[in-house]
Amino acid sequence: MKVITTAAEMEAERAAMKGRVGLVPTMGALHEGHLSLVRRARADSDQLVVSVFVNPTQFGPKEDFAAYPRDLDRDLLLLEAEGVDVVFAPTAAEIYPPGPSTGLRTGFDDWVEVSGPLSERLEGEFRPGHLRGVTTVVARLFRIIRPQRAYFGEKDAQQLRVVRRMAQEQRLPVEVIGLPTVREPDGLAMSSRNAYLSPEERQAALVVPRALQMGRRLVEDEGVRDACAVVRAAEELIRREPRARIDYVSISDCETLEELTEIDRPALILAAVRIGATRLIDNVALTPRSS
Ligand code: PAJ
Repeated sequence: MKVITTAAEMEAERAAMKGRVGLVPTMGALHEGHLSLVRRARADSDQLVVSVFVNPTQFGPKEDFAAYPRDLDRDLLLLEAEGVDVVFAPTAAEIYPPGPSTGLRTGFDDWVEVSGPLSERLEGEFRPGHLRGVTTVVARLFRIIRPQRAYFGEKDAQQLRVVRRMAQEQRLPVEVIGLPTVREPDGLAMSSRNAYLSPEERQAALVVPRALQMGRRLVEDEGVRDACAVVRAAEELIRREPRARIDYVSISDCETLEELTEIDRPALILAAVRIGATRLIDNVALTPRSS
C-alpha cells in the first residue's frame, strides 16, 4: 500500500493506473461504517484509493476542527488490511494551495458549490458553509484522483446527494455510489464523533435511532401519511431525553430532499440532534404503503 501526501505524486500515480479506479473519501478516525465503503469499493475496483483528510473548510469557526479525532497510523493499518492500493493523505496546503492573491483558508475563493433547496435546507441551514466545504474538497479530490466511481454513506444523506449533483454540474465523469448506514448493535449510527460521548451521553444518544425507527413504524406499519404528525411524534420522543437538543427532524423527498407534508412517495426521516456538546445526524428511509 502506497501512502501519498502530495497532489503531484497522486496525479502521477493515477496516470499510471489501469482499469477501474475507485475512491473512498474520508476524514480518518476510521470505523466499520468507513470500512464497509472500502470493502464494497475494493470488490468493484481494479485500483482502490482512500483519502484521509480532515478538511478545514467544512468546519464552522465554532466547530470541532481542532478536536476532530486523528490517528493516521491506526487508519493505515486498517486500510492495509482491507487491501487498499493507495492512501492519499495530503496536507491542507496541497488541497488549498496559496495562489498569487489567495492565502490558505482566508481569501480562498475557488469554491465549488451546489445551489438550491438540496444544499440550503437541513445541514445547509444549521451549518452554514459546511456543504460548500464538502463539495469544494470532493471536487478537488475527484480532479486529482479521477476515479470512475466514488463511494459515500447514506448516513450523510444530504452530503451524498449534494456530491452527486456537484459531479453532474461540474461534468466530472464519476459515478457516485451511496451505501447503507452501518450501526452499532444497539442501533446508534457509527460516527467518528461518537468518540466524544461520555458513557451517559452514549446511552442518551440512542434516542435518535429510536425516534427515527418509531417514525418508520408509524409510516410503514400504521400507514400514517401526515408528515407533521410523524415529525411531532419523533420530536416528542427526543424531547423526553434531557441531554438531547433538536436541531431538526424532517421528512423529505428521498431524492430532492424537499420537505414533504404528505408522505406519498419514497422519503427520508432525517434528524440532527445535539447530545451535550456533540452533534449527531442520522436518517432512515420511509417507504409509504401504496394506497
Ligand atoms: P467522514 O465523516 O470521515 O465519512 C467518510 C464517508 O464515510 C462518508 O461518505 C460517510 O457518509 C461515510 N460514513 C460515515 N459513517 C458511516 C456509517 N455509519 N455507515 C456508512 N457510511 C458511513 O463525510 C466525510 O468524512 C467528509 O465530509 C468527506 C466526504 C470525506 C469530505 O471531507
